[in-house]
Amino acid sequence: MTAKILLGKTAIGFLLLAAASLAGEAKTKVTSQPFGKMPDGTSVEIYTLTDGPFEAQITTYGGIVVSLKAPDRTGKPADVVLGFDDLNGYVANFNGPSNAYFGAIIGRYANRIANASFTLDGQKYSLPKNNGDNTLHSGTHGFNNVVWKAKAVPNGVELSYLAKDGETGFPGNLATTVRYTLVKGDLRIEYSAETDKDTVLNLTNHSYFNLAGGGDILKNEVTIDASRFTPVNANLIPTGELKSVEGTPFDFRKSTAVGARINADNEQLQLGHGYDHNWVLDNGGKLAEVAEVYEPSSGRILKVFTDQPGIQFYTGNFLNGTVKGKGGKPDEYRSALCLETQHFPDSPNQPSFPTTELKPGERYHTVTVYSFSYR
Ligand code: GLA
Repeated sequence: MTAKILLGKTAIGFLLLAAASLAGEAKTKVTSQPFGKMPDGTSVEIYTLTDGPFEAQITTYGGIVVSLKAPDRTGKPADVVLGFDDLNGYVANFNGPSNAYFGAIIGRYANRIANASFTLDGQKYSLPKNNGDNTLHSGTHGFNNVVWKAKAVPNGVELSYLAKDGETGFPGNLATTVRYTLVKGDLRIEYSAETDKDTVLNLTNHSYFNLAGGGDILKNEVTIDASRFTPVNANLIPTGELKSVEGTPFDFRKSTAVGARINADNEQLQLGHGYDHNWVLDNGGKLAEVAEVYEPSSGRILKVFTDQPGIQFYTGNFLNGTVKGKGGKPDEYRSALCLETQHFPDSPNQPSFPTTELKPGERYHTVTVYSFSYR
């Protein structure tokens, strides 16, 4: 009799568990706390997402991924992204000569737009110049430099921001949401947007990964599932060519250490001061694994999944130790790498590239997953 009752209870337990997993019930702990105030007094929060040994902290200022903890092969967690200890670190470095956009949402247009302008529906739009004659990451007041509204969602946090018609030069009121969830080492970032006027947009996350939790990234072994890349001119603007990676230092179709060819005698590497290029992904526009980084000393692995057509692989060539990051430690040359999933740079001026236009009535929706494991 007792055995029967126990059995019954176990069966009910299993049923409940099965129902919970079918419903995708949240199991990640989500908490929030104040992260400080902006110079104008606006309050900024930080959300902490915890699932076992994995933890992500995201602030409402710029949607920045402030810290991201993942275990090594012995189970020891480390923070694997660069950034600052407090809000002031992020605010003080914004618009400085060494702004690195650590961990932030980049919008409305990630990456470079040549001559700080583009033409849409026959009308010319002018943008702020903050990278020579070009616009980089939307200029001086992008999505990385605003305070987003936040609400907790199952396993994560959803941020929203309404960019006004004409803000930083772009047309249309753009209602944007970015949802971060963390489940079993998968940091999933889901971007959505709607506009009330024809516009262009290109959103990404600018996290700087150092899977060892310190040191340079030259021994990181990288795979990028791309048979072509977009070569650049001296201003890092694509020439328009989609060039085969075959036989070049840009061929990462087989896992290769970052440092193996980074100093090769190659014009594109010289122009980029290392790797700072967009790869043309072979994902056919579907959410798929497109890149992997393996860090041999810790065993940590980062896999990147996206539905975007491109990925900017940047090896921290502009980090030079002048900025002091977390714990007051200088952020040294090539001490982190970025894998920014996105559309190709300068697409609004390059008719042969996949379009970045969004029209009223359409919904922009894209997903990127940074997935952590070890071996
Ligand atoms: C992007 C660019 C780099 C650099 C960083 C920020 O990755 O491609 O050239 O500007 O942002 O420092």
